[in-house]
Amino acid sequence: MTILHKTFAFVFRVLNQVITLILPCLPKWMAKPFASPYVAGETIQDAILHAHLLNTRGYSVTLDILGEHVHSIDEAKDVTEAYCDLLNRIHIEKLDSTISVKPTHLGLELDKEIAENNFLTIIQKAKQLGLQVTIDMENSPYTEETLQIYQTCLEEHSGTGTVLQAYLFRSVEDVRSLDAPDFRLRICKGIYKESSGIAYHNSDDIRQNFIKIVKTILNGQGYAEIATHDLKIIDHLDEWITYNQVDKSRFEFQVLYGVPMGDRLECLKNKGYKVRVYVPFGKSWFDYSIRRLKENPNIIWYILGNIVKRLGKQ
Ligand code: FDA
Repeated sequence: MTILHKTFAFVFRVLNQVITLILPCLPKWMAKPFASPYVAGETIQDAILHAHLLNTRGYSVTLDILGEHVHSIDEAKDVTEAYCDLLNRIHIEKLDSTISVKPTHLGLELDKEIAENNFLTIIQKAKQLGLQVTIDMENSPYTEETLQIYQTCLEEHSGTGTVLQAYLFRSVEDVRSLDAPDFRLRICKGIYKESSGIAYHNSDDIRQNFIKIVKTILNGQGYAEIATHDLKIIDHLDEWITYNQVDKSRFEFQVLYGVPMGDRLECLKNKGYKVRVYVPFGKSWFDYSIRRLKENPNIIWYILGNIVKRLGKQ
């Protein structure tokens, strides 16, 4: 690498870090144009429209109402009702879509029993309509309680799934103890800041653990939802699945709405694999979008590109 290349890479890294620090402090109106590619809009109509478009292109969907850490039991109840309405709409519109729900959005931070009852309300509705629900995983203080809620809900409706994070040391053991014919698990790297006492921080370790978790599920009885944009993981697992002739009904690939994947998703679909897009929507788009922007390795070009596009439209 020449000195010029090294200098450029250094400036690029510093600029990315500066932008990452500034973003959460921006007023919402200023952040919105950069955040909008990652969310389907603010209303249920926006979400349904995007889900229809994705279904038409051959993608399955999971819809997520944005928000977390509600402040009151009434707020958690409102969110529960909003999810039941969403399930009704998915059913009426005949969408190929599940829903994804965050435990603290249903009140887990306030009271476990209330959160569990809210989940059961949603799960019973989903069961009645023949739809599936995935319980998202938040940071480690909620891992144990989330898995308990998952097991209670699974007893009620076999269409309940949950998520484990590859950065946590405990996840492989969790997979082994949860293994069962109805076990449906999304595996992701994990988005929250966790201490080195409980989580891998090195990206290769996280990648290796991700792969190990997926193989553990597929060597057992469960269904694996491979949720990543990391092409090294996707390529490795694709090869392993082909080599081991794993049945296509045992897994699917998942990505977040708005994360650029080139033609990779089409390639996966062309192989006959199921590909699902996680589509978040709602008024609480700010925190979610900032997380996504921080994960974008080319944030500086992404933001400059957006500015140029907008100037071009004026
Ligand atoms: P990584 O972050 O290394 O990204 C790999 C490559 O993808 C990057 O090099 C870049 O090219 C591209 N990329 C990734 N993010 C991008 C972005 N925002 N913009 C542009 N390019 C980007 N987490 C959690 O803790 N609990 C949960 O319940 C879920 N649920 C969930 C569902 C689904 C369907 C997905 C795909 C992810 C989650 N996550 C999650 C988030 C997950 O933990 C993780 O933070 C992100 O998926 C990013 O990790 P990757 O595996 O994509 O790798």
